[in-house]
Amino acid sequence: MNRRDFVTMLSATAVTKWASLETAVQAAAAPLKQLADQKGLMFGSSLALKYFEQSPAYKQLFVSQCDIATPELQMKWNSLSRQPGIYDFSTADQLVAFCATNRIKVRGHTLVWHDSLPVWVPGQLSPVTARTVMLDHIQKVAGHFAGKLYSWDVVNEALDPGSQRPDGLRSNLWLQNIGVSYIEQAFRATAAADPKALLVWNENYLEVSNGFGDAKRKAMLNQLDALLAKGVPIHGVGLEAHLRGDQANVLGDASYEAFLSELTQRKMKIFITELDIQDSSLPADVGERDKIVADIYRKFLTASLRQPAVKGVVAWGLSDAFSWISGYRPRKDGLPVRPLAFDINCQPKPAYFAIAEALEAAPRRV
Ligand code: G3I
Repeated sequence: MNRRDFVTMLSATAVTKWASLETAVQAAAAPLKQLADQKGLMFGSSLALKYFEQSPAYKQLFVSQCDIATPELQMKWNSLSRQPGIYDFSTADQLVAFCATNRIKVRGHTLVWHDSLPVWVPGQLSPVTARTVMLDHIQKVAGHFAGKLYSWDVVNEALDPGSQRPDGLRSNLWLQNIGVSYIEQAFRATAAADPKALLVWNENYLEVSNGFGDAKRKAMLNQLDALLAKGVPIHGVGLEAHLRGDQANVLGDASYEAFLSELTQRKMKIFITELDIQDSSLPADVGERDKIVADIYRKFLTASLRQPAVKGVVAWGLSDAFSWISGYRPRKDGLPVRPLAFDINCQPKPAYFAIAEALEAAPRRV
């Protein structure tokens, strides 16, 4: 009997051996980090310690499920520096200490992004100053955490076909003021500040097999070819995977796997970095909705994990109680969103079992 059937059986019968049905269901839900570890993979989630104050159960869930974490906010520029040149690392340090205590690896997120900048940064950027502003930031932040992080998302979301550039790069403040070399400079500066961290280009929509995603994939591979030929230290690519429940047909297909093979040929380590599934346009019925979401998790992760270059999966939250989607992509009918593996009471949902099945089906990494 597989785990999902076992839990269904528990739910349908009187359980005497266990203190409560909830305990029984949780006991049947093997930690995802354990299932991942059996295959030489990592499993984790975005992390914000403030949620633990609201829910001790969430803290317990987090520690039991995760062996890798990404700070959701605390290492972003606007979290670290409210005034020019002045940095407060206290909250991010707490997060790193919490992870060290609980043997959870930390993915630094993120050094160079167009979003979540403090208000002072754009005002300071000009073609004369921008390079120094960016490099100072990298030296301070990557230098502060040097030796303590598993990886850094060095550049974040640097591609955007919507910018209409032949190279596919996003026309952001860094590109406008420094030029395309800002990416190379950012990776080299991070490698100098923290030689131990794995350096990752984190990107959105590469996982979507449609015109937009195809354009991003092409641009990504061209960028990697040019940068790697120059010896730029890029070790991995992060696929955010903020998936949409109404896009099952363009997720986890053969062209996606072919793209992962292209990254593998370039010796990239691949990480799924921000996995969740927006259910905003799915049916209101919870059973029906959870099934659609679970099926996408299974399909997408099974395809991803078939590729040995994929080293880990990080979800953008574990419990539906704490997801950016409830604020950014709410449902029109006002019903609570259900994008993650566990419900608001930290109980496993069909999405959990789908993730578990995909991990169990993954080939073992050597
Ligand atoms: O905490 C303040 C609160 O005090 C204030 O009243 C409120 C008013 O706007 O803002 C709150 O801060 C918000 C914060 O989330 C905490 O909820 C920020 O405005 C809001 O910008 C911030 O959004 C985050 C977003 O990145 C921008 O940094 C989301 O939580 C976070 O999930 C999201 O994560 C990103 C990844 O870093 C990159 N990829 C996409 C992903 C999803 O958008």
